Amino acid sequence: AIERTFSIVKPDAVAKNVIGEIYSRFERAGLRIVASKMIHLSREKAEGFYAEHKERPFFGALVDFMTSGPVMVQVLEGENAIKANREIMGATNPAEALRGTIRADYAVSVDENAAHGSDSPESAEREISYFFGADEICPRTR
Ligand code: CMP
Repeated sequence: AIERTFSIVKPDAVAKNVIGEIYSRFERAGLRIVASKMIHLSREKAEGFYAEHKERPFFGALVDFMTSGPVMVQVLEGENAIKANREIMGATNPAEALRGTIRADYAVSVDENAAHGSDSPESAEREISYFFGADEICPRTR
């Protein structure tokens, strides 16, 4: 089925100047970017986004990292977009990510792992609406 998923190019990848490289991977996999913007997250915005991890030991470091520089946030649309995006990204820990995935190629650690992607239809819906209004999402008309 055609799905939408939410994606972040994280501060480490923006700093490495590989936004376009990562967008190309989405496009080569048949995913369409139907919404996109650059933002510098506030602590409050980052903490709200990662609320489910609040009790985890890495939460503080995660928020520090995600607010350390600008990110690109985007909505990707396509066949099985949630799973497709997770395959393109590779495992959360770059040391475990398959060759040719975004995290294997651009990330160095589980803390700074280049990209985020929704893990389920429920989180995709929540995450998309956390960053984008309906009027900011542009389904293709041609
Ligand atoms: P992300 O998909 O953005 O969701 C939560 C993030 O926490 C995750 O990617 C990792 O970058 C980060 N993180 C840091 N340590 C861990 C860990 N031990 N397990 C899972 N995620 C971690």
